Amino acid sequence: MFDNTHFSKAKKYWSMGKFYNWSKPNIHCMTHALHYGTSVFEGIRAYSTPKGPAVFQLKKHIDRFIHSASVLDMKVPYTKEEIIDAIKLVLHKNKLDSAYIRPILFYSYGNPGLVPKFCPVELIIGAWKWGAYLGEKSAQGVHVYILPWRRVHYSQYDMAAKLGGIYVQSTICGVYARNKGCDEAVFLNLEGNVAEGPGENILLVKDGVLKTNDVTESVLEGITRTSILKIAEDQGISTKIEPITKEDLFQADELFFAGTAVEVIPIVRITDGSQADSPDKEYTVGKGMPGPVTKKLKRIFMEIVGGKQSEYEDWLVYINK
Ligand SMILES: Cc1ncc(COP(=O)(O)O)c(C=O)c1O
Repeated sequence: MFDNTHFSKAKKYWSMGKFYNWSKPNIHCMTHALHYGTSVFEGIRAYSTPKGPAVFQLKKHIDRFIHSASVLDMKVPYTKEEIIDAIKLVLHKNKLDSAYIRPILFYSYGNPGLVPKFCPVELIIGAWKWGAYLGEKSAQGVHVYILPWRRVHYSQYDMAAKLGGIYVQSTICGVYARNKGCDEAVFLNLEGNVAEGPGENILLVKDGVLKTNDVTESVLEGITRTSILKIAEDQGISTKIEPITKEDLFQADELFFAGTAVEVIPIVRITDGSQADSPDKEYTVGKGMPGPVTKKLKRIFMEIVGGKQSEYEDWLVYINK
């Protein structure tokens, strides 16, 4: 049995069509994915709305999930519709009004070699209550650390895929940034421009223009990022997709992370540790507090996910329908 106090468990998780008690394990220790990172996953959020729980951009998440599986040549044992139904079932079964939802497809127990020729593909779905990813105080703005290591490059694999093994770089660097006393890491890419956080996109505001980068700068083009760009355009805020330099970060009026886990979180302080041979340098972003554009976009985003902006209803999938 698994027991600890750091995971705000739910009652049951779903595995290959069956529910299991949260603390009951059901995978073999020689599972291929455990050894080689041969899994793909999604991070999805459901929110409480006046019409009951709703999942934000569920179809886009499931499309990306299936795309990720194709990169690992997985024969997915369920259709997209079946996965969506299973996610709804998981929320129902656990009576979750809002939740973080984690579907994972992985090569299971089959053969020991790198090529998972005889390893079945299994699907597990868990959902639980997960609050602010970067801590309760993160809404006031976080302090980021620009890493000395460069992000994996878009020419090396399909960055639209969320492959378990690739996230080991995010873990190493997330730990490194925290050991430096910061809240989160920021990667530069091989070109020396800003890429992204370990699990978040970066957007900046300069002179009223909202700017972010795209896959050609070695980022996963997140669903939250793309939703925020659309919200900004609908609000008459100019947007630009172009490379972001380190100097752009230091000189930005506002800076924020966007992602399913963090949602929208202001960045107010930067430590530049990217030059391994020179001392770290500190910068304050804008006035050192969440800026007006970030606050406005975050407010609208939270209203949308909470079902309070009817023009964006098609971004939500209601569980009780
Ligand atoms: C590396 C990386 N970048 C960006 C994001 C943000 O993507 P999304 O908004 O789709 O959650 C994520 C999270 O999935 C991520 O893991």
